Amino acid sequence: MRTPLISNILRWYANNKRRLPWRNTRNPYRIFISEIMLQQTQVDRVKVFYRTWLKQFPTWESLAAAQTDVLLHAWAGLGYNRRALMVRQAAQQVLATGVPTTIDEWRALKGVGPYTAAAIYAITAQKRAIVIDTNVRRVAGRLFLGIPYPTPAQDSRIARALDRAMPKNDSVWELPQAFMDFGTAQCTSTNPQCARCPFQSSCRAAKKFLRGTAGKKPRTASHEHRHPGKPFPDRIYRGRVLAAIRSGTSYTSRTIGRAVDPSFHPATDADWMARILHRLTREGFICITRGRLALPHTVSKKVIHNKNGA
Ligand code: ADE
Repeated sequence: MRTPLISNILRWYANNKRRLPWRNTRNPYRIFISEIMLQQTQVDRVKVFYRTWLKQFPTWESLAAAQTDVLLHAWAGLGYNRRALMVRQAAQQVLATGVPTTIDEWRALKGVGPYTAAAIYAITAQKRAIVIDTNVRRVAGRLFLGIPYPTPAQDSRIARALDRAMPKNDSVWELPQAFMDFGTAQCTSTNPQCARCPFQSSCRAAKKFLRGTAGKKPRTASHEHRHPGKPFPDRIYRGRVLAAIRSGTSYTSRTIGRAVDPSFHPATDADWMARILHRLTREGFICITRGRLALPHTVSKKVIHNKNGA
């Protein structure tokens, strides 16, 4: 049985849901691509890239056969380039083992974690699933548990609360997307619109925000590697190296440092940049031929172990 609250959230979604291109399809390949793109890139940006991507790579087969340089060009602008290589590897897995139909099978694909697997499953199969992304965590954590700023450490409690709140049938398959849209529209990270919230009377955090006792959003520390004195984590410089090579200008291992970092100083930074280039080469993003940096023109099957995207 649906509680009035769940019915109201689904009604809110029916009236307010964002029109997003991947919401007009149940095609597993398309849903998969959208969810991978959405992992670390904002919805408005993904909208544009999703459409062009599907023109260039309309099927698992076309993606599985894509060459690295073509792939990295197509992914340019989405960030976290590691995902481009991972989607190709996932497509190769799908060709070998078939299109997944369960959460566990989706989870077995390269680059698909528990959240993405549950999201793809819920949307492609239109089945009930507990999906926790940043927005779902925030909305459910506030609504059901009264935590103003929930963190991933609270995900198991949030999952249990969602499981209790969701009726045990598939009519609620859109609930995670309803939470995503509500979290973007109203229940925002800072300054949620509690005064005009349709779920205010059911929400265990609303009073805290309305009375001003919710506190401030805690700052989260980054776990990404950062070279001493540099303003950004290595991931940003890795992305810049790829962007520089993609641009068509010719660089060598010696000239690339200056191109991607205005404060580059050989005495302190040459080893750091060499390590970045070495890792990019090992992971199949770049190749160094006769001293020149280039994007590989191959369809490699690199295994990527590192979790912190390129
Ligand atoms: N973020 C991740 N998946 C999403 C989806 N299906 N709709 C909107 N935002 C999302």
